[in-house]
Amino acid sequence: MFRKRLIKALQSISVEIPNKSMISLVGESGSGKTTLGKILVGLVMPTTGELSWENTVVVKDGRIVQKDFYLSNRHKFVYVHQDPYTALNPSKNVKNILEPVVRKYKKHLSNADRFKYIRELLEEVGLVPAEYFIDKYPHHLSGGMRQRLSLARALITDPHLIVADEVVSMVDPSIRVSLINLLKKIVENRGTSIMFISHDLGAAVYAAGDNPMYVMLKGLVVEFGPASEVIYRPEHPYTRALISNIPVPLVLSERRVRGLDGVMESARNPNVSSPCPFSEMCPLLDSECSSLTPGSYLRVGPDHYSLCVKAGKLPKWRPSWLPASPG
Ligand SMILES: Nc1ncnc2c1ncn2[C@@H]1O[C@H](COP(=O)(O)OP(=O)(O)OP(=O)(O)O)[C@@H](O)[C@H]1O
Ligand SMILES: [Mg+2]
Repeated sequence: MFRKRLIKALQSISVEIPNKSMISLVGESGSGKTTLGKILVGLVMPTTGELSWENTVVVKDGRIVQKDFYLSNRHKFVYVHQDPYTALNPSKNVKNILEPVVRKYKKHLSNADRFKYIRELLEEVGLVPAEYFIDKYPHHLSGGMRQRLSLARALITDPHLIVADEVVSMVDPSIRVSLINLLKKIVENRGTSIMFISHDLGAAVYAAGDNPMYVMLKGLVVEFGPASEVIYRPEHPYTRALISNIPVPLVLSERRVRGLDGVMESARNPNVSSPCPFSEMCPLLDSECSSLTPGSYLRVGPDHYSLCVKAGKLPKWRPSWLPASPG
């Protein structure tokens, strides 16, 4: 029971986050999304590989390099927790949650200016009127409001990158769109980059738009490209399965679709072994799949890549509910 088991949480992954944009990362539970997000902000040390911030390598093969740069920039790369209920200290009110962080990162502000700054921050994240929220405790706030407060706290360091990990998963579907819109506003007004992590494909596509979306499975990125391309022209059987199961509400229609629209209907082929993370469920598995090398992608469109060896030659497919593609 207590025997050690080695889990490779991530392998052969390369992600680049463009300045001033929101990208998204999707995949089922345990696919490695949080691990990747935490690596990007320096909260988890990868055993191999490189992490660069602003074109400066800060982590290499399990060690911090450029220590001074790393320490002086660490606060610019922040992680917003998926659970707003545990991320906030229940014994502190809004003012006391934000004020120590403002004191630390905005040392130049006088007492009066600090209060004004906190008020503006609350208004920016949609907690208005600020006077009403300033002395509230986390238990007075709804899940969406708590998530807004977590974001307000994250903004105090004027971050270059926010890793927003499942920030909409614990809130009411009706609040999700407004929270994603808030993230879009932060990108637009502040020039912050955001990595939006979600297992909800609809939310992820709405968040990223034409920006990159990465689809993960079992520690590997199986497909990436502009989110709108990936959803209309998926070139990996796993992405197709995910899209067939999309709980649509945000982008496409109100109809919730169950089942995999034929993607995974056939039985798997037990005679073929492949490093493909989808091989155990993929109906298209055959001897060609043995040649797959994790990390080598096929280009299937402008900036659009798939890990499937059959990418570009996959059978024609579209889920029955998907409206006609715009392009
Ligand atoms: N601290 C840890 N110790 C051991 N294994 C871990 C640890 N953290 C994550 N893992 C494993 O690493 C893999 C990836 O986990 P991770 O939390 O990154 O997935 P995820 O995609 O964020 O999942 P979820 O959607 O449930 O949040 C899983 O197999 C998980 O069990
Ligand atoms: Mg996670």
